[in-house]
Formats: sequence, structure tokens, C-alpha cells
Amino acid sequence: MDQEQQLNGAMRSVSINSNGLATKLNGHNGCKGNDETDNVRVLPAATAATGGSFTIGSDTSKATNAANSATAATANANAIQIQTSAAGASAADKKKMVHELCQQLLLTDEQVQELCYRILHEVRRGLAKDTHPKANVKCFVTYVQDLPNGNERGKFLALDLGGTNFRVLLIHLQENNDFQMESRIYAIPQHIMIGSGRQLFDHIAECLSNFMAEHNVYSERLPLGFTFSFPLRQLGLTKGLLETWTKGFDCAGVVDQDVVQLLKDAIARRGDVQIDVCAILNDTTGTLMSCAWKNHNCKIGLIVGTGSNACYVEKVEEAELFDMPDNHKPHVLINTEWGAFGDNGALDFVRTEFDNDIDSHSINPGKQTFEKMISGMYMGELVRLVLAKMTLNGVLFNGQGSEVLFTRGLFFTKYVSEIEADEPGTFTNCRLVLEELGLSNATDGDCANVRYICECVSKRAAHLVSAGIATLINKMDEPHVTVGVDGSVYRFHPKFHNLMVEKITQLIKPGISFDLMLSEDGSGRGAALVAAVACREDILNSK
Ligand code: GLC
Repeated sequence: MDQEQQLNGAMRSVSINSNGLATKLNGHNGCKGNDETDNVRVLPAATAATGGSFTIGSDTSKATNAANSATAATANANAIQIQTSAAGASAADKKKMVHELCQQLLLTDEQVQELCYRILHEVRRGLAKDTHPKANVKCFVTYVQDLPNGNERGKFLALDLGGTNFRVLLIHLQENNDFQMESRIYAIPQHIMIGSGRQLFDHIAECLSNFMAEHNVYSERLPLGFTFSFPLRQLGLTKGLLETWTKGFDCAGVVDQDVVQLLKDAIARRGDVQIDVCAILNDTTGTLMSCAWKNHNCKIGLIVGTGSNACYVEKVEEAELFDMPDNHKPHVLINTEWGAFGDNGALDFVRTEFDNDIDSHSINPGKQTFEKMISGMYMGELVRLVLAKMTLNGVLFNGQGSEVLFTRGLFFTKYVSEIEADEPGTFTNCRLVLEELGLSNATDGDCANVRYICECVSKRAAHLVSAGIATLINKMDEPHVTVGVDGSVYRFHPKFHNLMVEKITQLIKPGISFDLMLSEDGSGRGAALVAAVACREDILNSK
């Protein structure tokens, strides 16, 4: 594929109807079971030493490969040395060693409770005018005050930027909660993710124009909702300044700029299509709106995917930064941006050597501390770091690792879900994954230990998310709250949902009930709904 094709080439095209049935699929795999984090390289350019013993990098250039081989060899040499301490150990002792090392990943009930206090404290700091500038959990006002009432109708375009892929969608909201949706996924090549803002928005505008041409709406002027899943300091429903990039993006010249204006400028530079940007929103907002369309109890939107974040319905008087003219509406959605919780050290009491490693080799050290302990962009890498350490100690695989095991970013988060999907006592998926990693001589004991490591990392993530959700539910203090959830980790991990239900139940105040509802394409349909609700307002205001 040449660069031009890579830039502009649509990856997949999907049409669905309101039953969620794919009616047209292009390209491999469609959307089903496709973990958005599959190909995430955690650390685009990092090469670094862990424990001073080996170098790991994700750059696949020849030089780096050579370096990796050399360092993997060093690692193996180290392993062989250290192995003497663990090689002769019995399977039971090895298991004990793995459990001991993983102890630091298990959160006690007291720790989780303490986390709830700290999250609440940070949420309050984000909401209050005086403390907001220094708060880590920014609690941005979204300017969305109305949930959908089910009467939203019409044809909308939506853009969805913020996961691994970029999507353009055409959504037709119809009667009886019915809708038609066509979408196409476009790659955002790595060089654009860390290139200039102008390149990024020109690429987006080009994809939009191609999509409109393909879907016969090229000359229509349609309302558009833009799901932009990064921390946005919103100044209105159609105006928002980027606070900082997250999730591996780092395009120059966008921080502190109005993202809607950058999109409009890029469209104007092309001069071919015309659109009305009706709303810019976060994926959590889209998720909440998408669920609220069907379920009016939905008051929290949660993403556990490439990143992690939540939004919730807050009372206007609590949102001190909300400067809307007095329109007497009692509520507003708050985008917490909780991924940054802990950037001031509030999570240090539960962070581990592996979290430090992830952070120091990331594109944004010191930032998104909570997210780095939870989300799909990092979960596989966390597991890999534990596996690598245990292998170097001779506890796993008889001390014999592989190049892939010692390379950053090559243990994909989807492996964690696959390994944990094995029936207890069987290791079919686990062995397949290990084979992909070049580890074909694993014993049953190794497999059980690998699975245990995955369980500790994913359980910790689920408990951290639960602490956040329980804190919001308790703060809202409503008798029943439905939480709309989306994201690849929640969707594909076999136990994440149950782990969350169990932990949230423990943490919420007596008398409050909740449920977790899987969102149907919040970032797409949610964007159309926010745009539709905004249009509804326009129509009412113009009357
Ligand atoms: C990151 C982004 C946030 C988004 C989340 C989930 O945390 O900063 O805006 O909602 O990822 O995609």
C-alpha cells in the first residue's frame, strides 16, 4: 500500500440498522470482535532499560531489531544466570513466587475505599472555580443539558476521533427509537498522530469529503456532531479548546486551540463540502446520550477502551465553571476526564514498579496516571512487564523468553481477554497466545501463572474503574442509576462486567441501585443525538 492510499484509504465500511445487524461489511473482519487496541503501539519511539538488564523498543527498524535481538540475548543470558535461583524450584514454589509478585497488583477493600475518598475530593476540586486550575480531574462542563427524549429525527453526519481509528458516520434517526447508520473507518497513520494539527485536520476533512461523495450526500448541507475524545475545555456546545493530547496522539499546534474551528478551517481549505457543526462532544457524553435515548435512567457514561473516562449528570449549582445564561435548566453533563486522576501523586499508594515503567516510557510521562493503570492502551503492556520480569527470574518458561516477549507494545490487550476466556483449568487460548509470542514450550504451570497475572492486572483495572463509578453514583445520590458503558476492554474482556458489578455493589450507599448497560455505538449515534438535541433547541429558540 503506498503512502497516499494509507492516508486516505478507508479501512472498513459498515452499515447497520437499529437491530445492530451489520448489513454490509467491507474489508477483513468487519467490526465484530475487533479490539480497537489490537495494534496500539504503546510507546512509539521509546527504547529503554527495565531493571537495568535489557533494552526494549517498539521501533521495527533494522537497527532496533538488531539491538532488540542483542538485548533479548542479554536478557536470556541474565535469565540463565538468575534462573539458577528459580530453575530448580517446584511448580508449587513457582506459583508462590508469581502470587507474591502479583500481591502488589491486588487492591485491598481499604485501599479501594480510600480511592473513593480521593476521587471524590478530586472531582470536587475540578468542579470548584478556585481549585479547578490545579485540579487533575478537570470536570469539564459539556454544555449538554438535555438528554434525548426519543423524538429526535433526521439525517446527521458524525465524526469520531479518539480511539485507534477515525470514523465517519451517516446516521438517520427515525421514529420509535429506530435508526439507520452507515459508517466507514479510516486509519490515522502514526505519522499523522504525532504530526502537525494541520495535517490531522486536513486528513479528517479529506475522509469526510470522500465519505460524503460515496454516500451521495456530497452536495447536502447536513448537521454534524464531532466526537472528539480528548480533554476539551468547552466554551459552548460548538467550541472547545484542547487541554492536552492523550492516548498516543501528539499533534503540534492544537493544544489551546478551538478544535471546531480547526475542523471548519480544514473543510474551508478544501472548499468542496459544506457542513453545520452542531456539537462537539466527548465519547463518554456520546455513550451516555446513546443509552439515555432508550433508558431515561442513564446518568453516567463510561469508557473503558483505549483510554478510560466517565461523564455524569451534575446539578448546575455544583458546576461552578458553567457560565451559561440562566436558562433554568437544573442539570449539565460533566466530562470528568478522570484518566488524569493521580497525576499529583494521589495514586502513589497503590502504584507498582510496572506502572512506573509504563509511565516513564510513555509519550506523556506523569500524565493520565489512572488511565495508565486501567485502559486497553496499557493493559497488555502491564501484563508483559510482569511476564518479562518473571521470565528473567527463571520462574516462567524455565527462564527462556522470546524476542516478542521482551519487546515493548507487542503483548496486545486483546490477549488478556483471550487468555481469561479459557475455561478454568484449560489453556487453549493461552497456548495460542504464547505461541504467537514465540513461547511454545510452556508447561501447564506456566499457563496457569500467565493466566493469574492477566487476572490480577484486569481485576485491578475493574476495581479502579468501580471506585470511580461508585464515587459518582454516591455523589449523585439518586435512587437508581444506569451506567452506559463502551470501550474494547469492557466489551471484550470476559469478566470485566461481573467484576465491576460486584465491586460497585460493595461500594455504593445502601438504598441506591444501579445497572451497567452496554452502549450501542455511543461515539457515532451519541454524536448524532447531541447534534439532534442541539437542533431541537435551535428550532424551539427560533420559534
Ligand atoms: C482519554 C481522553 C478522554 C476519553 C477517554 C476514552 O482519557 O482524554 O477524553 O474520553 O480517553 O476514550
